[in-house]
Amino acid sequence: MVDTKTQYHKIKKEVDEAVIAVMESSQFIGGKVVNDFAANLAAYHQSKHVIPCANGTDALQIAMMALGLQPGDEVITPSFTYIATVEVAALLNIKPIFVEVDPRTFCIDADAVEKAITPKTKAIVPVHLYGHAADMEKIMAIAKKHQLFVIEDNAQGIGNIYTFADGTKKKTGSIGDIGCTSFYPSKNLGAFGDGGAIFTNDDALAEKLKMIASHGQSKRYYHDVVGCNSRLDAIQAAILDIKLKHLDAYIAARRKAADFYDAAFAGNERITIPYRAENNLHVFHQYTLILNGVDRDALNQYLADNGVPSMIYYPVPAHKQKMFDAFGGSEYELATTDWLTERVISLPIHTELDEEQQQFIVDKVLSFVNQSPLTFIL
Ligand SMILES: Cc1ncc(COP(=O)(O)O)c(C=O)c1O
Repeated sequence: MVDTKTQYHKIKKEVDEAVIAVMESSQFIGGKVVNDFAANLAAYHQSKHVIPCANGTDALQIAMMALGLQPGDEVITPSFTYIATVEVAALLNIKPIFVEVDPRTFCIDADAVEKAITPKTKAIVPVHLYGHAADMEKIMAIAKKHQLFVIEDNAQGIGNIYTFADGTKKKTGSIGDIGCTSFYPSKNLGAFGDGGAIFTNDDALAEKLKMIASHGQSKRYYHDVVGCNSRLDAIQAAILDIKLKHLDAYIAARRKAADFYDAAFAGNERITIPYRAENNLHVFHQYTLILNGVDRDALNQYLADNGVPSMIYYPVPAHKQKMFDAFGGSEYELATTDWLTERVISLPIHTELDEEQQQFIVDKVLSFVNQSPLTFIL
């Protein structure tokens, strides 16, 4: 699905030198390299504060802790997402309230959010899934009206620019109270291991986030609140700092690959290509099709048999995962989420795809799709 090796070889000299420099310095945890990366990321991201941490899951957990969410509080999230978004709530005994997504953008349905608000609701957690922005205009208005926090799960959306109706442009992840991201190697800004970051424009919140990520320390060996140990190591920060300079080019390469697929599949009645709302810059962390009347799992297998990777993100929505039985997961009826779960398939998309590879992938997809018996159309 990704080609991180070729991507590495294009920046090998710079990366190798930076990694060796960290090893020579012996400053493996914290220090200048981590601080410089955080400052550069804050500038790129137009966020006042960046708190690096160990991974995107921790980022979400620390965000919920810093906002003071308590056991029994409710957070509204999509079910159509990666498990980390909602798992952290459950871990803190906060109740995830699952709502529908917009079937065009795959992101949380703002109208469904408003209907799900109760006196226990404390936060909304929109996910910029596959790299498309959630409807932040409406979500921020709802949050303001009901005095709720907004934690953006920007693990798949880093670099997306959202335009509000008044023309204001903001990077996703810097719109809500807190933004969270992941540097998992396949992400648009991927480390050579695990990593994550938390974004905020609020000075007091930034202090709390920093403390919680560092054992609740206000100063060394003085622990004011219960925290955790979540650090981005210096080797990862050094690599990420180099890759950050290429992030916009990486996004442009992904968008170019998406354009190629779009042109190849447009007009095919059995394939719905990814929607791109005009008010966002889709960063195509994933290129995800909705199949109409095609046996999706058979296509997945056919592509694998022909040397083409494809993935189902995600085969089981969160509300149907066993881990949420105790939170009443099985009682939800989320028809759009279930409908999408049965029909989505993601094709390889990354910075190193060339047109020959893409044409091969397209030919394989179309040869299967166009032969699907019409009777299968649901
Ligand atoms: C939407 C979403 N949220 C959260 C995460 C968690 O990030 P990490 O794997 O770095 O913990 C991921 C990444 O896998 C993700 O895609």
